[in-house]
Amino acid sequence: MKATVIANKDYTISKIDDRVYGAFLEHLGRAIYEGIYEPDHPSADENGMRGDVMKLVKDLDIPVVRYPGGNFVSAYNWEDGIGPREERPTRLDLAWHTSESNAVGIHEFADWCASVGTEMMLAVNLGSRGVDEARNFLEYVNHPGGSYWSDLRIKNGRKEPWNVKLWCLGNEMDGPWQVGHKDADEYGKLAANTARAMRMFDKSLELIVCGSSHSDMPSFPDWERIVLEHTYDHVDYISLHMYFANRDDNTPNYLGLSHKLDRYIETVASTIRQVKHKKRSKKDIYISFDEWNVWYHSNKKDREILDGNSGWPHAPGLLEDIYNFEDVLMVGLILNTFIRRSDVVKIACIAQLVNVIAPIMTEKGGPAWAQTIYYPYYFASVFGRGSALQLVTSSPGYETTHAADTSYVDVSGVHNEDEGMLTFFLVNRHPSEAIETEVSLQGFAGGSVTDHQVMTHPDLKAVNTAGKQDEVKPRKGDGARIADGKLSVSLPPYSYQMVRVQ
Ligand code: AHR
Repeated sequence: MKATVIANKDYTISKIDDRVYGAFLEHLGRAIYEGIYEPDHPSADENGMRGDVMKLVKDLDIPVVRYPGGNFVSAYNWEDGIGPREERPTRLDLAWHTSESNAVGIHEFADWCASVGTEMMLAVNLGSRGVDEARNFLEYVNHPGGSYWSDLRIKNGRKEPWNVKLWCLGNEMDGPWQVGHKDADEYGKLAANTARAMRMFDKSLELIVCGSSHSDMPSFPDWERIVLEHTYDHVDYISLHMYFANRDDNTPNYLGLSHKLDRYIETVASTIRQVKHKKRSKKDIYISFDEWNVWYHSNKKDREILDGNSGWPHAPGLLEDIYNFEDVLMVGLILNTFIRRSDVVKIACIAQLVNVIAPIMTEKGGPAWAQTIYYPYYFASVFGRGSALQLVTSSPGYETTHAADTSYVDVSGVHNEDEGMLTFFLVNRHPSEAIETEVSLQGFAGGSVTDHQVMTHPDLKAVNTAGKQDEVKPRKGDGARIADGKLSVSLPPYSYQMVRVQ
């Protein structure tokens, strides 16, 4: 089987915003406690943060991490997480039916972000609270000093403001599961008022309003239209979320889900355009895809934990999906979609980062390791910086329940002009056939293959565990060649690859 791709130096989609490789950490399960924070762990630093986790996170070169939720934020009092630890209250977290010790709050999270070299993206509570808590939190985080909240921050040990630019106006407010859930009009008005107040403090903030929790929500896409009609002039991004699942164990169909993702993005992009024209506005709004990942492996266990749980445990093992090789392909496809839609998707956050539906897993007192999906995320984040190329791909395809034709070969291309580097991320969705793929490199200086990474596995369901951390991992490829301005590479069945040319 054969596929062809045309890459032309002059045909680019957009500069990729680095923040499309962001991540998310919520006070949920063992993400914070036993995830990033475990003071008794042998690798813990002076702040109690796990060094082994920090190493895995640093390697990912994540530009931004969203915090503190998620559903958690909709009943969170950020003030509970400041001041002397021993005086911080334990609260009941309604979203996940757990106890929150507040041992980690904004100071500890900010220090951790500085240690791993990432920026904070903060969410305010628009579920149980509103404009007042948002403006106070903003003042605490970003005001230099000389006011009640900024002086309290200084008293609590942080002199300089953190100057956080990105702020989420609540979380998934369209969802009836959300504490303080609202309809689109109610939420739109609250979000507009909150945004207005936050901008009175600082016009240069980047504000993200809640879009839909997923594209099967009954309110989608009217939610986006109504919310944007209220907020268009006051915000910069609309947030989307989507999780991917292979519940009926149908791999071809599962891998076709990136079509659904693409349609979701396209629909919201056109809704943004509709509202823009209705308002006769010159301003553009972009998408912040601030929760995405595969999520379904842990559903049954979570139901058992939550249903059988009459108490309020602290940091139970919730949402601990153990990812397999097939999920590598799905995550590669999702990231390819974001690269191809970099004209409109400017921020995206893998949800989440540690233990909770995450590329990194830990054992209490034990090791931290990379799950299978760590690798496609790593390759895209580290090597997918530059401009997205408008590729023309011809590949045989197949039908799924999501689309009439899903091409076997899925590819994205990134041109980094500063480094003179071309990077291709390729997924073969074919179950049994290798696909000989030829990429015509138009307008690029010849060059040679400088890096080639391949992920295949005879068992789609193979996983990495604490005891077998390297079961699924990339290996160096050796079959990619350049001749006569064409890159030739063979894509084994069900494979993920990265090929770099300079
Ligand atoms: O990431 C897990 C949860 O998924 C988040 O708390 C919520 O926003 C979404 O429904």
